[in-house]
Amino acid sequence: MFGDLDLGVAVVAALLTGVVLLVVLRRRGPRRPPCAAGWIPWVGAGLRFGKAPLEFIEQARAQYGPIFTIFAMGNRMTFVTEEEGIDVFLKSKEVNFELAVQYPVYRTASVPKNIFLTLHEKLHMTMKGKMGTFNMYQFMGRLNEEFHEQLEDLGPHGTMDLISLVRCLLYPVTVNVLFKKGLIVSHKRKIEDFYWHFQIYDEGFEYGSQMPEWLLRNWSKSKRWLLALFEESIPDIKAYKPERDDCATLMQAVLDVVEGEADRHSASYALLMLWASLSNAVPITFWTLVFILSHGDIHKTIVEGISSVLGGAGREKITVSEDKLKKLLLIKWCILEAIRLRAPGVITRKVVKPVKILNYTVPSGDLLMLSPFWLHRNPKYFPDPESFRPERWKEANLEKHVFLDGYMAFGGGKFQCPGRWFALLEIQICIILILYKYDCSLLDPLPKQSHLHVVGVPQPEGRCRIEYKHRHDVCQAPRGPGPSGGATPPATHLAPGLQEG
Ligand code: HEM
Ligand SMILES: *[C@@H]1O[C@H](CO)[C@@H](O)[C@H](O)[C@H]1NC(C)=O
Ligand SMILES: *[C@@H]1O[C@H](CO)[C@@H](O)[C@H](O)[C@H]1NC(C)=O
Repeated sequence: MFGDLDLGVAVVAALLTGVVLLVVLRRRGPRRPPCAAGWIPWVGAGLRFGKAPLEFIEQARAQYGPIFTIFAMGNRMTFVTEEEGIDVFLKSKEVNFELAVQYPVYRTASVPKNIFLTLHEKLHMTMKGKMGTFNMYQFMGRLNEEFHEQLEDLGPHGTMDLISLVRCLLYPVTVNVLFKKGLIVSHKRKIEDFYWHFQIYDEGFEYGSQMPEWLLRNWSKSKRWLLALFEESIPDIKAYKPERDDCATLMQAVLDVVEGEADRHSASYALLMLWASLSNAVPITFWTLVFILSHGDIHKTIVEGISSVLGGAGREKITVSEDKLKKLLLIKWCILEAIRLRAPGVITRKVVKPVKILNYTVPSGDLLMLSPFWLHRNPKYFPDPESFRPERWKEANLEKHVFLDGYMAFGGGKFQCPGRWFALLEIQICIILILYKYDCSLLDPLPKQSHLHVVGVPQPEGRCRIEYKHRHDVCQAPRGPGPSGGATPPATHLAPGLQEG
């Protein structure tokens, strides 16, 4: 009898000890950030996250605080939203850019892991050098010429979907300047084919980076079409290499690095470069124009500025120089402000050794995530964050190439976007020349942004048409009392020698 009681006590004691031990161990063990895990194994919160990822990230922040993990489709994504976490994201040696993007790069462009890891740093340095602030003057002339040429095709007036108009300009200009002039057309494939396939590739990029290719047949077809185009044209791109090294195009410089061991992956790198140079620049040009055209006062100030700096005629083949850009600062502010409001949903790093952030330990293997989109909506950094307020950029030291605090649209740390200065220059020239040449107005209200994707900047949802007309037609209108009864022109005092008669 006593024996039985002893046994009972022993069992209860053992259980209690177990529970106490568990509690102690959990306390002592590293504490992980709170986790939105759903309840389905592996899928986790994947269904809700997949439906509206941007919203889900913000809801999780409201629920869990400044650092939290979203578990979805077998991945642990740990988001940081405040200083300490952002610091780790940008500076810690225990988090790694290459390991975070290697797999998506493999999925979308078929670059094998070992090749990617071997070449990445050198490639990044090459791109950073070619597109550094000191090299921007090299692009001025070409960008001006190319935009003028493409603008010719728009004719004296018309109505178009604004996103199509932007594509018609930026696709050929970017390819001609960064790859090789005439690359798309000289291959006798209609330029529309190129537009078509690149658009499908771009639209499916995010799915393509996560899913096996056989689930995405159209995307896979377009990817292969583009790879074949490059396969065919790489000898051409290389052949047109100029004598002087510093005159080589960006693509030629990239191919120089890839040459040798990785030669057969040249087309893959060309495809990645094409995507990087267009996927964000196109929607940002679109959003900037939409913001400008839908803010009457800003639009008016900009058009007046362009007239006073470049002249009012609209017909000359003017060149937008660095000096002139400095006098048209408001346009640069508008671009930066548009990028702030339409920033990439997420950027990512891989945790390679456990890192402490706030009171938590983020385990190795996690993807560390930062959302520029939501960071840019933190009123601590950007007061009145939802408003389009280009004047806030007055505070930034743009002369010294410094953005505002908390601005993360181009990523950060060692591997931030090497194309950012080129992007800003290209978009400035594009917008200035459009508004110099044409009177523009929108025929639709400000479109919504798509919330489906988190890679790169958000795309517009639904159509937004633009109507454009040569400014020429307006400025050359007969002076003096017109049909609407304008004022008589002021009497001019002609110099004696110029008197008529
Ligand atoms: C408004 C336009 C653009 C935005 C918002 C943007 C944004 C970004 C971001 C957020 C990253 C990742 C950085 C990180 O994780 O820290 C990135 C990488 C990159 N961007 Fe851009 N970008 C733009 C335009 C361009 C252009 C025009 C080019 C090329 C001409 C370009 C080339 C690249 C490349 C090659 C990388 C990868 C760098 C690497 O692998 O080390 N980007 N960009
Ligand atoms: C794939 O492309 C074909 C032909 O262009 C189109 O009819 C079909 O709807 C597309 N499928 C998907 C899933 O987008
Ligand atoms: C972290 O822990 C300290 C002390 O245990 C506590 O005072 C602080 O509020 C905690 N911070 C957060 C963000 O939980």
